[in-house]
Amino acid sequence: GRLVVLVSGSGTNLQALLDASADPSYGARVVAVGADREGIEGLVRASKAGIPTFVEKVSDYATRAEWDMAVAARISSYAPDLVVSAGFMKILGKPTLQAAPLLNTHPALLPSFPGAHGVRDALAHGVKVTGCTVMLADEGVDTGPIVAQEAVPVLPDDDDAVLHERIKTVERRLLVEIVGRMAREGWTVSGRSVRIGNHTG
Ligand code: GRF
Repeated sequence: GRLVVLVSGSGTNLQALLDASADPSYGARVVAVGADREGIEGLVRASKAGIPTFVEKVSDYATRAEWDMAVAARISSYAPDLVVSAGFMKILGKPTLQAAPLLNTHPALLPSFPGAHGVRDALAHGVKVTGCTVMLADEGVDTGPIVAQEAVPVLPDDDDAVLHERIKTVERRLLVEIVGRMAREGWTVSGRSVRIGNHTG
């Protein structure tokens, strides 16, 4: 399957997908990488892998709707089977969601701690277990149907960076597994339930 990956930062989730797709049996390959800003490591990772990149900045457009349309047009031009938002820090509007299915990762166990500071919020709340969530995005913020989750322990001396890295280690593995299975086996969504593979009976 053809993947377009959207990044806003270090792109370690992207890198995990690039490494996995080096194996032809993985069933998916990254055909383009998009970002909302220049000068991020995620774009460097794509260029090093020889993968086309695009940058669409909200500030380049008079309205958010025009940015949404530009992003959707860029994505559609690569005819993806699946768009993966891994650390992309903008809410994607209806045009993008209509262009292709969108898979998102979040570094908390949704519906707990949605939004841009899931790790910080979990730590501040004093939870003993947090984790990561892979979901199909809908128009809300981290509200789409959940595909997979995995728990990650919070340790007494954790700070935001230490906990986030422990989560990302799990998140990268979970994302690679789910993207590969969805690309190879397909998936169906009914309501809030996502089923991967052709389940008969
Ligand atoms: C990931 O934990 C993602 O869930 C969160 O930001 C992080 C991005 O990491 N939104 P990277 O850019 O893939 O390294």
